[in-house]
Amino acid sequence: MGVQAVSTPQDGATGRLRAPYRSVLDLIGETPVVELTRFDTGKCRLFIKLESQNPGGSIKDRIALSMIADAERYGRLAPGGTIVEATAGNTGLGLAQVGIPKGYRIILVVPDKMSREKIQHLRALGAEVRLTRSDVGKGHPEYYQDMAEKIAASIPGAFYVNQFANPANPLAHESTTGPELWSQLAEDVDAIVVGVGSGGTLTGLGRYFAKVSPKTEMVLADPVGSVLAPYVKTGELGQAGSWTVEGIGEDFIPPNCDLSFVKKAYSVTDKHSMLAVRDLLSKEGILAGSSSGTLLSAALRYCREQTVPKRVVTFVCDSGNKYLSKVFDDFWLAEQGLAEREQHGDLRDIVARSHREGGTVLVGPDDTLLTAYGRMRRGDVSQLPVLDDGRLVGIIDESDILAVLEGPYDGRWDRFNAPVKSAMTADLHTLQAGQTLDALLPVFERNEVAIVFDGDDFFGLITRVDLINHLRRNR
Ligand SMILES: Cc1ncc(COP(=O)(O)O)c(C=O)c1O
Repeated sequence: MGVQAVSTPQDGATGRLRAPYRSVLDLIGETPVVELTRFDTGKCRLFIKLESQNPGGSIKDRIALSMIADAERYGRLAPGGTIVEATAGNTGLGLAQVGIPKGYRIILVVPDKMSREKIQHLRALGAEVRLTRSDVGKGHPEYYQDMAEKIAASIPGAFYVNQFANPANPLAHESTTGPELWSQLAEDVDAIVVGVGSGGTLTGLGRYFAKVSPKTEMVLADPVGSVLAPYVKTGELGQAGSWTVEGIGEDFIPPNCDLSFVKKAYSVTDKHSMLAVRDLLSKEGILAGSSSGTLLSAALRYCREQTVPKRVVTFVCDSGNKYLSKVFDDFWLAEQGLAEREQHGDLRDIVARSHREGGTVLVGPDDTLLTAYGRMRRGDVSQLPVLDDGRLVGIIDESDILAVLEGPYDGRWDRFNAPVKSAMTADLHTLQAGQTLDALLPVFERNEVAIVFDGDDFFGLITRVDLINHLRRNR
């Protein structure tokens, strides 16, 4: 039987199959829109614009292009110059994506809560990353925006981008994102649900739609802890809290953020954001970052509240592949207190990786020390339970391995092949799952890890880090 040719759908208007582009920078913008059909959207139709399809993976490529072009046009950036920015990651990726091929040096000040993948991506692109604290506010010398401004002032000819006040930021959305949406949704849009980082998206789209479609409502999706949604609702600027989603939510109102466009604002918990973005992947096959969960959650609430049919659009602001070790990692969610987990009021609540759920990274007594060490590194843990046929027979930690390796240099490599049972601690003090947190303190005082059993069954380990995480979650 011959091979059947599979016909490829072509979307006549723009054509997805076209001649090669000369540069990936030509791929910024003109992102596709998909209708979400597997969610309960009430009387409404909900669409989502995939900004994750930009070459840098986020909505920020658009503003990087426009802010660099603007600085070049007005002489604030000359060939060989330095670009400095304070960024949660995506603007930095956009700036590096656009700026590095043009020969600019890129220095980015990034708060330390940002995902490892974003930082690795930035460094691999060739940007210089300066990490700073994410737990301090404006006015503190280590606040990321103040630090970036100071670095820029210390380098002759450096251009401090300042996406929070740079007019070329909202202009990018007014002149590209807005017209694209308008045309893609057949000039009929009732509501646009956006998040605010710098306010560029909100303000740019607000300005464009005020001109072409005054009926279009701008809806704000904001993380709980941010000051923006409460300000829209009460007119008062409160104290900021903390939140986990990246790239949106603020502790101040940026100059580029014109909240007068907002008709309705929703505060969304981290938990709801995480659930929504995981649903987006499992229901619709769309891999998005955590903030897109905030937007989707608010958009679904807005849709379900409407009493007449409306056409609503929101964004996938960045791709979820930067967050695989966070939002899409069940253990990370549990550690953050964001997983749906039954609480027992005893030691079971503190075990981050329960053996019963297959979460424990473990080793066998006849495995080599090299295997044990490899599992510790990959699992990001410092000790492993040693199980023989399902029965706990010991614990091995980094110092046990080191104790075997120390000694004469000759033969050190061979000692990596020694079995785990020759190095492990077999004299185990165990706790029962039903005990309370107080039982942990004497264990940690002896510099041991707590080994928890449920009856005769090994339940899991509790380290100092697990206890600290538990106390932080329940503070
Ligand atoms: C990851 C991310 N970055 C940025 C933005 C929007 O940022 P800005 O207000 O700076 O346009 C969003 C909006 O939802 C976002 O999710």
